[in-house]
Amino acid sequence: MAPVALRDTYSGVEAAVKSKVAQSTTKDAAQTALLAAATRFEDANPKSKAQHEIAAGILPGGNTRTLLHTTPFPLSMKCGKGSSVWDEDDHKYTDFVGELTAGIFGHNHPVIREAIVSAFDNVGVSLGSTTIQEQKHASLICERFGLERLRFTNTGTEANLHALNGAKRFTGRRKVLVFSGGYHGAVLSFGDGKVAENNVDREEWVIGRYNDVDGAKRLIEETPELAAVLVEGMQGAGGCIRGTKEFLHTIQETTKKVGAVFILDEVMTSRIAPGGIQRLMGLKPDITSFGKYLGGGFPIGAFGGSEKIMRVYDPRVPGALSHSGTFNNNTMTMHAGYAGLFQVYTDEVNLAFNAKGDALLEKLQHVSKGTKVFFTGMGAILAAHFSDGGSQEVTCIEDFEERGDLRDLFWYEMLEDGFWITRRGFMALILGTPDEEMDRFVECVGKFLQRHKDILMPE
Ligand SMILES: Cc1ncc(COP(=O)(O)O)c(C=O)c1O
Repeated sequence: MAPVALRDTYSGVEAAVKSKVAQSTTKDAAQTALLAAATRFEDANPKSKAQHEIAAGILPGGNTRTLLHTTPFPLSMKCGKGSSVWDEDDHKYTDFVGELTAGIFGHNHPVIREAIVSAFDNVGVSLGSTTIQEQKHASLICERFGLERLRFTNTGTEANLHALNGAKRFTGRRKVLVFSGGYHGAVLSFGDGKVAENNVDREEWVIGRYNDVDGAKRLIEETPELAAVLVEGMQGAGGCIRGTKEFLHTIQETTKKVGAVFILDEVMTSRIAPGGIQRLMGLKPDITSFGKYLGGGFPIGAFGGSEKIMRVYDPRVPGALSHSGTFNNNTMTMHAGYAGLFQVYTDEVNLAFNAKGDALLEKLQHVSKGTKVFFTGMGAILAAHFSDGGSQEVTCIEDFEERGDLRDLFWYEMLEDGFWITRRGFMALILGTPDEEMDRFVECVGKFLQRHKDILMPE
């Protein structure tokens, strides 16, 4: 049964919750709608609920990837086909999570399948050696992104860790400038403008404000021992906030001036345009970090740049930095990643796909104009935001306060409409997502805004 049908049958529950809420101190209509939506969610997903309870008996909180935890419990997905996924309670969703940009090829792309089956049958899973395929995939990435040398890792987190170590070795310095709202991996997070408690090298970070041109320039010029600046061209996890050309070019020029290394984190954004966001913005970073879709859906990370800098990792050079990893060049990733990039995600496909994303964003911005909901993003990566200030141009996370209750309500109700999105409102499209589903999403957002106009119009 489509969960959306439940929305209409729950006026009783809503009324009951309403009266309960009215009796309590909370009289907020948003809370009422949220509680009703959470109740419908629980009732519609008994198998996911039961699965969560079992999982919590073995995984802390039933979870092994914090982002995927949602209250009252996460949906457990059973399978995916193309650009759709099905949960354990048999609801079908259009997949707008897109594995946080890694899932661009969908759940069973024939080209990826062929690459994997062929590698399994003809190559073998792990050869414990260098292979021609890793050189081929590295050559293709270098060609696409204008790099001289590249090294593979298993994740984007590792790519950034090794890029930073390379920069520290190259400059002989220790400090790194990052920006509030930035996310560079599991142990490299600056989401609320602070160094997260689980971060590595906690003493070595300097945190600036994203898109603050003068502030960045000053911090780069005045921070003693600055080894590198690590920045995203568009903050992804931070809410799809675009970096301005002026901001990014100022970083590039000023790092050059002080002899620090400019590391552009393109783990998410390299798919946004042919040559990545760097070509779009006319940038030439010293090192670029990659990950996500470049593994064809399998674990990958990579970092690369000029031969001069990457030489710090050349094992033929005495005293070179070590960079190990059992699966750095695993055959499945090397074959699937290469096939995906070479055969599927050509420049033409890239341009057409991101144009669709831009068109979707424009429609969403149009439909939400003048409400507390607004959308940000670029190409086929976007985010929904909820803020009392209403629609606005955002330049950094400090520009607005996210309304968690409205964001959660949106998540519940988009699920009911058959859209799988992240709880935080982040979305990454999958190749081949039907245009009708994108149009239907805009329509459902419009209906959501209408349904809750009492709580979504700025006061
Ligand atoms: C910009 C950016 N850098 C790095 C990472 C870390 O990549 P991974 O999750 O593969 O470690 C992410 C992950 O979302 C990211 O968005």
